[in-house]
Amino acid sequence: MDGWARVGTISEILPGEHRVVWDGDTPILVVNLEGDFYALLDQCTHEDYELSAGPVDADEGVVECVLHGARFDLRSGRALCGPAYLPVAKFPVEVVDGVIWTRDDR
Ligand code: FES
Repeated sequence: MDGWARVGTISEILPGEHRVVWDGDTPILVVNLEGDFYALLDQCTHEDYELSAGPVDADEGVVECVLHGARFDLRSGRALCGPAYLPVAKFPVEVVDGVIWTRDDR
């Protein structure tokens, strides 16, 4: 798909798993939550640290920044607790013929 970054196939990223891909200079954290895929900017809104370095809790749908403990909703990007207050950018995900795609649409 033109203008989209290939993430992988649905058999490579199973429920509960995640992967980081790049769309140009943009790191994107893609997670499989119970069979649905979500994509967020892989960057904490507190001090721009990479979110994928911290634990991804697929059961709760939350990623925690390893630097100071801010938590974000993986489905919406919403900040759930300080010290981050701004949401993380959320990106579109498409699955076409078993291949997952995402892109920085900002
Ligand atoms: S950089 Fe993420 S909580 Fe501080």
